[in-house]
Amino acid sequence: MRTFFVMCLGLVLILGAGSFIGSCSYQTSVGSISSPNGSVKVHFDIDSVGQPFYKVQFNGQSIILRSDLGFQLADGENLSSHFKMVDCQVNSFDEVWEAFWGPSQYVRNNYNEAVYTLKNKAGLLKVVFRVYDSGLGFRYEVERANKQPIIITEEKTAFKLPADSKCWWIPADDDSYEKIYQQTLVSGIDSVQTPLTLITPDSTYLSIHEAALVNFPSMTIRNSGNGYLQSRLVPDTIGHVYKGDNTLISPWRTIQLGKQAVDLINSDLIVNLNEEAQGDFSWVKPMKYTGIWWEMHLGLKTWHGGERHGATTARAKEMIDFAAANGIQGLLVEGWNIGWDEWKDFDYCRSYDDYNLEEVVSYARQNGVEIVMHNETAGYVNEYEQQIPKAFDYYQKLGIKYIKTGYVGPVKSGEPHHGQRMVKHYQYVLEEAAKRGICILGHEHIKPTGLNRTWPNLLAVESARGQEYNAPWAPQNNAPEHVAILPYTRLLAGSMDYTPGLFRLTYEHLGITDKRAYSTLAQQLALYVVCHSPAQMACDLPENYVGHPAFEFIKKVPVSWSRSLALDGEIGEFLVMARKARNSDCWYLGAITDDKKRTVTIDCSFLNADIDYKCVIYRDTNQSDYLSEPHEFLIEEIAVNASTKMEVRLARGGGAAIEFIPDFSQRGALEE
Ligand code: NOJ
Ligand code: CA
Repeated sequence: MRTFFVMCLGLVLILGAGSFIGSCSYQTSVGSISSPNGSVKVHFDIDSVGQPFYKVQFNGQSIILRSDLGFQLADGENLSSHFKMVDCQVNSFDEVWEAFWGPSQYVRNNYNEAVYTLKNKAGLLKVVFRVYDSGLGFRYEVERANKQPIIITEEKTAFKLPADSKCWWIPADDDSYEKIYQQTLVSGIDSVQTPLTLITPDSTYLSIHEAALVNFPSMTIRNSGNGYLQSRLVPDTIGHVYKGDNTLISPWRTIQLGKQAVDLINSDLIVNLNEEAQGDFSWVKPMKYTGIWWEMHLGLKTWHGGERHGATTARAKEMIDFAAANGIQGLLVEGWNIGWDEWKDFDYCRSYDDYNLEEVVSYARQNGVEIVMHNETAGYVNEYEQQIPKAFDYYQKLGIKYIKTGYVGPVKSGEPHHGQRMVKHYQYVLEEAAKRGICILGHEHIKPTGLNRTWPNLLAVESARGQEYNAPWAPQNNAPEHVAILPYTRLLAGSMDYTPGLFRLTYEHLGITDKRAYSTLAQQLALYVVCHSPAQMACDLPENYVGHPAFEFIKKVPVSWSRSLALDGEIGEFLVMARKARNSDCWYLGAITDDKKRTVTIDCSFLNADIDYKCVIYRDTNQSDYLSEPHEFLIEEIAVNASTKMEVRLARGGGAAIEFIPDFSQRGALEE
């Protein structure tokens, strides 16, 4: 990762302890810090009982009222009151760094920072605020007195909203994010996952999440009443939330702010609050992949052995031929290893008899295809950890560069999926994989918090309901608004292995009439642009792609971008997203809508004004409808340039996917 320029303006203000306590602790001017353009302002202070708190203003309006900070410790001590401020430092920072992959190639990281150091008898607590034009992050740095261990029972951090607000959320189940989004007032929520996204009555868009979640439990949000939202950390089996030695650096608590819904998407705050990658990650390659996967979800094949076993050597070779013929770089093979019959005692080095891993890998290599290894743990995490060194060494020896992990069901040791123990586990997997040049795609994984900046081999995680919930097995398929909520909630956290690209959207041919994907075919294409991931799946069966004209879009759409622009949208209703390919002048656009048809106007001013473009549009027809005619679509070509404004009609549950290809012959012709 290269940093292009760094303008570190240094310490603007450093006050000595004596003068600071006396003159600063109750003065707003010293306890306030603004973002570079002044739109976001944070006020920090400690009250008469030494309790630290903060407030936030956005464009002059109070957006977070007095909200407490700190921790309660297990030994009866606290890091939340009886504090004195002993130091304050402020700083400004401005850099542009290059991302290995992602929505933007060059990311500007521009913030003002304040570090408040507080002391009580339990130890030192530093509260570090970084204030951006698109929101803020703050974290704690703790050093306990007398080298005592830090065992936390509760985080006091709060987010007090000035008024009841409309919000989108999934419940705080400590084992799963695979839940249906709800939209209610904040007063109607209990405990929810982050990102928690809301709109205040005066139309400010706000999303609460966290960044750089390492060696700490995941933060969920608990409603304590009257708009007082509080951090609720996922506890371990005995009710502690965090255990460590005498120093601690917490993840960042983040608040993204915007005047429009798309401002949340256009912010790089989460990834910016993570550390730069150390070492060489140039081996990390974004890719598209297909899989021996959907046939199992359809019930046509099985993960376990037997007559209908999906992962056979013969099928894998057929799929490698299909991938190679269509320029798809990877093949995921699920159900390849011993363990699926009993759903336990998984062996990550031993294949079923009808699947010869080494033969498949060698055939894949000859054909320029990468095998995506599958490690389903079924929650046997300790057992998986014991096998990791040997299994990952073996995969490295075979030249395997991608592993999809899975954690279906409860963790067998009783730990929650999102507590400190499991956060450490996901990190262990990531680091063991990185040592061996392997990338991770994680299912049933901890939510993303921008760690891909530090560990670019963390390609994408699931951490929400993905396409799999459109399968016949799902008790309830994803509603049409699901994909119109994800970009404003879960996807703010980072890339998602949603696995788009379903072309056969109904299952009548299998005798199943009560399950389906609530989507049109054009919407499935649009998802490649809307749901960003450096590893995008073409999830359907090859027979549904071969000869289908819309497959062209899947073959061509990139998986890493030089720029991304959310152009227009509303949470849970629609989104128009444009992204420019890396290393080419092509742009791609994805537009999706919920269960309402709508016409979106696309202002093409994002295009290079010096170039004319051929625009290939894959869209819904007038007949398309996610319920009655989901497969209806058309492809049309038009010429456009940066001054074009085009209207595109989206069907109910529909979408549009557009490719903008520079057409140098056109401009040349015009000029002649
Ligand atoms: C759940 C994952 O999300 C899915 O992709 C996978 O096929 C199954 N588990 C089996 O591991
Ligand atoms: Ca899953």
